[in-house]
Order: sequence, then structure tokens, then C-alpha cells
Amino acid sequence: MESGLDGTVALVTGASSGIGAATAAALAAQGAAVALAARRRDRLEALAAGIRGQGGTALVLECDITEEQQAADAVARTVAELGRLDTLINNAGVMLLGPAAGAPLSEWQRMVELNVLGLLYCAHAALPHLLRAAGDGPRQVADMVNVSSVAGRAARNGNGVYSLTKHGVGAFSESLRQEVAGRYVRVSLVEPGATATELAGHNRPEVLDSLRNQFGQTMGAEDIADAIIYIVSRPRHVAVNEMLIRPTEQER
Ligand SMILES: NC(=O)c1ccc[n+]([C@@H]2O[C@H](COP(=O)([O-])OP(=O)(O)OC[C@H]3O[C@@H](n4cnc5c(N)ncnc54)[C@H](OP(=O)(O)O)[C@@H]3O)[C@@H](O)[C@H]2O)c1
Repeated sequence: MESGLDGTVALVTGASSGIGAATAAALAAQGAAVALAARRRDRLEALAAGIRGQGGTALVLECDITEEQQAADAVARTVAELGRLDTLINNAGVMLLGPAAGAPLSEWQRMVELNVLGLLYCAHAALPHLLRAAGDGPRQVADMVNVSSVAGRAARNGNGVYSLTKHGVGAFSESLRQEVAGRYVRVSLVEPGATATELAGHNRPEVLDSLRNQFGQTMGAEDIADAIIYIVSRPRHVAVNEMLIRPTEQER
């Protein structure tokens, strides 16, 4: 069956779990060939096997995108092996919460290295290919979707550095959107609220305990994937610049 993303190629970072895995599967279901980037190869291989089993095309890219060269290689391999790049889903991220006073600096470094620098390395490497795809691609338009967070809109007590990184993603996205809009590369910002994934599980036990009382209703990763598919499947003259998505009961 013909689908909206037939003939296009998408690269998804953080495709080994959560929102990235769900988005990669959804893109493949829409006809895109997908490159799956993350560190856990076994997870990527399992996802790729599922996509191929449905008749799709998937490329496994085991990489750590906090390493500039590995991020650049992930983009280069996508183009070399799948032929082009129409869609970049900048999704890989880590959220390490808790008071700033006494926080391990290594946690702050991990968030800045992945949520900011890793995303920038991928964006930088992908941009020339996205611009080319917008010129000669099947849809004459290309997409970069940057996954931020509700924390990219409002800082809260206990999420300072995570919020800093996501505010940075928002600022970069808006600036880049203005820069490339006229060349038909759409830069979109997605800001999920609480979503049931592995994200919170990387926190220290004492932080996890305090988080348990904070989060009530959650969305599924598929709910965010659904929003991303909506964004990248708009007709050429429509750009969804920003999407803030919360579980219905989430107030802040
Ligand atoms: N879940 C939520 O409530 C929520 C809310 C707002 C925003 N978000 C954002 O959504 C995005 C996806 O998070 P998620 O909730 O789906 O969490 P997740 O299940 O923990 O997924 C994070 C992904 O990032 C990958 N990753 C981590 N370090 C990496 C590295 N150095 N290089 C390459 N990939 C790396 C992980 O794979 P490997 O470990 O295999 O490398 C994993 O695939 C993040 O940007 C997060 O901030 C999530």
C-alpha cells in the first residue's frame, strides 16, 4: 500500500527504547526506510528485525552520539547505505533530576553532552543532507524533529540542568527553523509531558523515590510517535513548528 513517507529515509537517535523505538516503528509503517541509532545493539537488532518482518527497511547504527565522530558517522552511514536523508528525529536524551546542591557533576555533564552536544552533532552532520533532500526528494521537503520536554518550557525546583538542556534545544530549534524555512527544511520542536519509558529509571534511588509521588497519569511512547508522524506527514506548505503534549491529567 502507498504511504505518505514512501521513498524517504529517516534517522532516529535513541531508537533502542521508549519514544525513539516507537517513532522508528511508526515511520517504517508509513513507508520510510529507517536508520536506528543508539548504544544497545541488541535492542536495535530486535527492532530492525520487527520492521523487516513487516516488509520495511531498517539499518542498525550502534553509536554513542556524544562522540562527535560517531554522530557524524551515523549520518554518513545512513546516507551511504540508504541513499539519502529526509528526516532526522533528534530524540536521544537523558533526564537526571534532584537538588542542585550536592548533585554529582557527572550527571550534569551527561545531560549536557547528550541532550545538547549529541543533538547538535547530529543536526550539524544532517543539515546538508536535509537541505539536499528538500531540493530533490520525493516530497520536496525535509524534516528535523527535535525532542524537548515540558521542562523545555518551564523550569521547576529539582530539574534545573535537565530544563537548561531542553530550553537550549528549544532556542536552537527556533533559530534554525528561521534559517532554513525558506529552503523547505522544517524544524519542529516536540515537548512531551510524562511518558512511560525508561527515562526516569536512570536516576539515583533517592531521586526515584521522590519522583514516584510526582507522576500520575502517563502517556505511552506511541502517543508521542503519533504526534511526530503527524508533523512529518504534513503537506509541503504546512510546518508544525512546536507541539506540547501532556497526559490529560498533568497540570504543570
Ligand atoms: N519519557 C518522558 O516522560 C519524556 C518527557 C519529555 C521528554 N522526553 C524526551 O524524550 C526523549 C526520549 O526519551 P525516552 O523517554 O524515550 O527515554 P528512554 O527510553 O530512556 O530512551 C532514551 C534513548 O536515548 C538513547 N541514548 C542514551 N544515551 C545515548 C548516547 N550516548 N548515544 C546514543 N543514544 C543514546 C538510549 O539508548 P542506549 O541506552 O541504547 O544508547 C535510548 O534509546 C528524550 O530526549 C527525553 O528527554 C521524555
